[in-house]
Amino acid sequence: MGSIRFKNNRLFYLDQTKLPLQELWRECKSLGDGYKAIKNLRIRGAPLIGVFAAYNVFIASKKFSSQKEKFLRQLKEAIDYLKTSRPTAVNLFWALQRLVLVVKKNQKESIFKIKSEILKEAKDIHAEDIDLCRKMAGYGVKLIKKGDRILTHCNTGFLATSGDGTALAVIYKAHRLHKNIRIYADETRPLLQGSRLTAWELDKRKIPSTVICDNMAASLMQERQIDKIFLGADRIAANGDTANKIGTYSLAVLAHYHKIPFYVVAPFSTFDLKLKSGKFIPIEKRCADEVRKVLGKVYITPRHMQVKNPAFDITPSKLITAIVSDKGVIYPPFRKNIKRVINRKP
Ligand code: MRU
Repeated sequence: MGSIRFKNNRLFYLDQTKLPLQELWRECKSLGDGYKAIKNLRIRGAPLIGVFAAYNVFIASKKFSSQKEKFLRQLKEAIDYLKTSRPTAVNLFWALQRLVLVVKKNQKESIFKIKSEILKEAKDIHAEDIDLCRKMAGYGVKLIKKGDRILTHCNTGFLATSGDGTALAVIYKAHRLHKNIRIYADETRPLLQGSRLTAWELDKRKIPSTVICDNMAASLMQERQIDKIFLGADRIAANGDTANKIGTYSLAVLAHYHKIPFYVVAPFSTFDLKLKSGKFIPIEKRCADEVRKVLGKVYITPRHMQVKNPAFDITPSKLITAIVSDKGVIYPPFRKNIKRVINRKP
């Protein structure tokens, strides 16, 4: 199961805004289609955005000029345009930068060759992402004990990556190993990635699970009903500060107060070691109607109510127990250990 398919040089994706009511597959036929799919969260989740954007550059290039100079200019413009689709998840910029390097290396070659090298790179990024999920699951599962009750936030599974996921891949592996776990999924307001997407995934995989409203987490922790927290990341700075779905920071504060281990699961492509700390991570601000309305339809506030809608928040690394990466589990001191582990050759 995955939520993108590349077949016969065509790109298809599962429209995540329709889940769980409808499993609607769409085709991405142009640069504009891909841009809108990312911006409107039809495709979402940090690693998947990167993979999808890379394929989208190939799809867009099919319509570019047959004149070399113009073709190269159009390629650059397409990549720059896709970079403006969403600002926080660094995987988008990481994947597009890989394409920039491929184009640079092949700029003297024919247009045909450049297109085929772009496609090859997109396919490599896709295949690597599947492998990264598998590796994170392998390291993360060792942190789970029999009978653990695990809280997660947003969606970090096969809808958010090309493989089994980040945090959810760990959970799926623990379930396969009969660890007898129970998952609590935060609904994740305002766009409900938890109750719509994570719950849908958990249901498909038949994992014992319970959805809670975001404001119920504190009381569950107080009643000692949560043993561990596992969630994903959209960008991790050099000191371990982590940007993830809005509401992550409050969970980290609660976990710290209740002495509950708090684990972030993310591949190396989510680390941005150029940024010293979380205060340099750009936070996406989304439109007010996402808060004013439910499922884009029914108003639940007065129509012109002022609202705030930051899509992500920053969790300071001192609240994180460990970061599970594809290269191993990283413990504090994060600045030193992230550099050591993430720069390790595979
Ligand atoms: O706005 P979204 O739905 O793209 O946000 C996704 C998250 O915050 C995930 O937790 C994150 O991408 C990491 S998991 C693959």
